[in-house]
Amino acid sequence: MLSTVYTAALSGVDGFEVTVECNIRTQFGQFDIIGLPDASVKEAKERIKSALENSGFAMEARQTVINMAPADKKKEGSAFDLAMLVSILVNRGYIKNSIDFTKICFLGELSLSGAIRPIRGALPMAIAAAKAGKTVLFLPKENAREASVVEGLHVFGVTNVRELADVLNRDRNLEPTLFDRAVFEDNKAKCSLDFSEVKGQLAARRAVEIAVAGGHNILMIGPPGTGKSMIAKRIPGIMPPLSFEEAVESTKIHSVAGELKENDTLLYQRPFRSPHHTVSAVALSGGGANPSPGEISLAHNGVLFLDELPEFSKQATEVLRQPIEDKQVTVTRVAGRVTFPSSFMLVCAMNPCKCGYLGHPTKPCTCKRGDRERYLSRISGPLLDRIDIHVEVSSLDYGLLKNSASNESSSDIRKRVTRAREFARERFARDGLKLFCNAQMEAAEIERYCRLDNEGDALLHRAYDTMGLSARGHARILKVARTIADLAGSENILSGHIAEAIKLRTLDRDYRLL
Ligand SMILES: Nc1ncnc2c1ncn2[C@@H]1O[C@H](COP(=O)(O)OP(=O)(O)OP(=O)(O)O)[C@@H](O)[C@H]1O
Ligand SMILES: [Mg+2]
Repeated sequence: MLSTVYTAALSGVDGFEVTVECNIRTQFGQFDIIGLPDASVKEAKERIKSALENSGFAMEARQTVINMAPADKKKEGSAFDLAMLVSILVNRGYIKNSIDFTKICFLGELSLSGAIRPIRGALPMAIAAAKAGKTVLFLPKENAREASVVEGLHVFGVTNVRELADVLNRDRNLEPTLFDRAVFEDNKAKCSLDFSEVKGQLAARRAVEIAVAGGHNILMIGPPGTGKSMIAKRIPGIMPPLSFEEAVESTKIHSVAGELKENDTLLYQRPFRSPHHTVSAVALSGGGANPSPGEISLAHNGVLFLDELPEFSKQATEVLRQPIEDKQVTVTRVAGRVTFPSSFMLVCAMNPCKCGYLGHPTKPCTCKRGDRERYLSRISGPLLDRIDIHVEVSSLDYGLLKNSASNESSSDIRKRVTRAREFARERFARDGLKLFCNAQMEAAEIERYCRLDNEGDALLHRAYDTMGLSARGHARILKVARTIADLAGSENILSGHIAEAIKLRTLDRDYRLL
């Protein structure tokens, strides 16, 4: 006899529907799983047999074949266990056949005891199920809140096989898990770390505001303990709040990477990822046998913070080049290629020299000759090329640190940033361009939107000659000046805007690195 039920699988950060067919013959024989299963799926046989027995269902030694379609797509992981077990229960009459299984999706890993264990990637698989016309989803209880985000799907979290069988047979009632959109709307504008806690550092605060307003990558340079990490952690809180769609996109990635905690639902706030400088290239870009998103994808729609930039290996910083341009990363492996989204704001921090105290008002720099050049030369040139703003974060004077008057809060800064972004977006939209921030401008758009008056042009000309700027540095100043003008609500870039943008090229000006 043949029974058919449905489940879903992962490919990158998207799911696809999988049909599970089970055929059980009357004669004795083996239990086989076919349809391009990987080793972990093949291991399901033992889990299914044991889970059936321990849930009070007899597992007779009849010839059983389970086929998973489409047969040409590789099936990885253990989330199919539950659907395979249900197909056997239906086949053997333990579950009433009157149920319309074409509307139901089953996801979950089995333990030998019959308990249903949480899985990775529940959200993208739930989305795939809904797209395939399913209206009911049974999955592990721990994943129910995450999947409940999907519209048009009644989500039921189950803890063990017996409970599931009873619910399907209507011997037990189970309430669906509901998603509360209002909770998301309430929480998305909150931020746990606030800019009002950062004392002084007006130049760095302003630079960060400009960077966020224009979507520019930023590098902060300063001695230890001046608040670089503190400022970086507060950047997601001044970015415009996550839209529902962005939250779903980011949550999908975190779900596939297994980064969501039990009972987590949507991410409310923009992610902040801060990989240690010993991070490997694969951990940054993602990969592995069952490819999982890396740090740059976990930072999608948020901030990737590289603290102590010169300490990162060349291999690690190399892998950032393509994703910064393309806003996605492609991981190649034996079974094919997967693409993960990776649109993030890059924030870097470093000390001005190896000992950290170059230019410090009281502490002497103890670096030997050549140390400083060696330290700076460790930063990847191509990566530095993709950073529009460099700002110095100087040591804080005691008076400022003790000053109890709190600085402007994140929500005030966020308002200005959001307004400036809207100003830029409208300008691009008027000309039918789909750009959403100034950092995305290419040569043609820079030519069009970054015209200078005579005074501004003279200023930039002088800076070009005295700072020995490259053409690339010149373009970066124009883009940043455009953002400064947007923050001021000005259609024209004035000389003051250019002057401020020139100041935000510390490495060109003071370090002569580029
Ligand atoms: N501007 C500031 N306002 C308030 N507190 C500050 C400020 N700067 C530093 N601090 C305090 O010092 C601690 C260390 O700061 P933080 O880690 O941000 O320094 P850093 O510049 O990143 O140093 P490092 O170069 O060693 O990484 C903070 O947790 C905070 O308590
Ligand atoms: Mg730090």
